[in-house]
Amino acid sequence: MIKDIVILGSTGSIGEQTLDIVRNFQDKYCVKALTANKSAEKLVAQAREFNPEYVVIGDGEYYNFVKEELSGTKCKVFSGKEEINNIAEIECDVVVAAIVGFAGLEPVYKAISKGRKVAIANKEPLVAAGHILIDLAKKSGANILPVDSEHNAIFQCLEKKHKDFVRRIILTASGGPFLNWDIDDIKNVNPEQAIAHPNWSMGAKISVDSATMMNKALEVIEAYHLFAMPFDKIDVVIHPQSIIHSMVEYLDGSVLAQMGAPDMRTPIVYALGWPERVDGISKKLDIFNMNDLQFIKPDYNKFPLLKKAYDCLEAGQAYCIALNSANEIAVEAFLNREIDYSEINSCVEYVLNYIDIGNVSAIDDVIEYDLYSREIAKKYLSARKSK
Ligand SMILES: NC(=O)c1ccc[n+]([C@@H]2O[C@H](COP(=O)([O-])OP(=O)(O)OC[C@H]3O[C@@H](n4cnc5c(N)ncnc54)[C@H](OP(=O)(O)O)[C@@H]3O)[C@@H](O)[C@H]2O)c1
Repeated sequence: MIKDIVILGSTGSIGEQTLDIVRNFQDKYCVKALTANKSAEKLVAQAREFNPEYVVIGDGEYYNFVKEELSGTKCKVFSGKEEINNIAEIECDVVVAAIVGFAGLEPVYKAISKGRKVAIANKEPLVAAGHILIDLAKKSGANILPVDSEHNAIFQCLEKKHKDFVRRIILTASGGPFLNWDIDDIKNVNPEQAIAHPNWSMGAKISVDSATMMNKALEVIEAYHLFAMPFDKIDVVIHPQSIIHSMVEYLDGSVLAQMGAPDMRTPIVYALGWPERVDGISKKLDIFNMNDLQFIKPDYNKFPLLKKAYDCLEAGQAYCIALNSANEIAVEAFLNREIDYSEINSCVEYVLNYIDIGNVSAIDDVIEYDLYSREIAKKYLSARKSK
């Protein structure tokens, strides 16, 4: 049976890799809808190639261009945030959540509320609202399938019936481009250096997060929600080769690991095919070329943001929201060359020290606390810029 796929964020790194899979297996997958924010030309090219029923461009400025370019095709074109939310609700077999950042929260919420199978790469909604999304999935019958390679690995290694016998989850991290740099040399790196990831080709935001190891901090929180695991049972180990994507250690001493070449098409195809195993197009792992696998303890002095995941989980969900929001604001400012690299950390610290917020039980609370944290981060950064 051909699966209908909705791709939220089709013009990004995960979106394009999903389309690469569809391109190679047209007898298995059919694109029902594509969405982007501003990449209008790329979206049009994708729509011409995959002929979806719906195309949504988030930024209304590009609506006329996309509409005109796709006139004469079967694509119905829409624009705006609300339309992306609506597309997330349409009938389909799989929704691929590949928007970057908190912007993906509402569409993910909508898809889950409709009981869809959601292949989720977009980690920030899980960080900010994991408890709400997981509860919602239980009610709606949605399946949340992690695409983040580490969580996909844990998903594959975690035997549900033996969950009580898990000693710990071990998330692997590449360590990013600055793993072997001196702390003092990292302080003033530029965006090009920060996004030059040694193993993975990804969008700019997640690449910077990998350099600061905020990406791993977000992933610790993501794992906490996805696998209902106490945070003191979630460890991080640096594994620069990115061959072991994560591990589950059981009380009997067994450690189950999932391995593969660093290629996001592996977890994407796993999530598309789930609960079956299906054919993919990923690079093959050359086991004769992996005789130097390293595992290193993370250095919190060099990567202070990583430790914040544990502090925020202990402090409460509102702090996890603030952690993510402050980081999004700071990373954007860094990519726009408005602040130095080291100020990403100081901005996040400032926001976490400043906020005083309570319980987060509904999605509107999450949105409110996100906005509040962003405002504080922006004020902090504009005060720094004017100095
Ligand atoms: N890339 C990876 O290898 C990887 C691995 C694991 C997890 N992830 C996670 O997957 C998500 C996507 O990452 P990525 O690297 O694919 O990011 P990316 O390359 O930056 O692509 C982001 C996608 O989201 C769209 N988008 C951006 N802002 C939006 C907004 N406000 N409203 C609606 N759509 C918006 C972009 O559209 P435009 O092109 O129009 O801007 C693009 O289609 C992130 O949460 C990331 O952490 C990625």
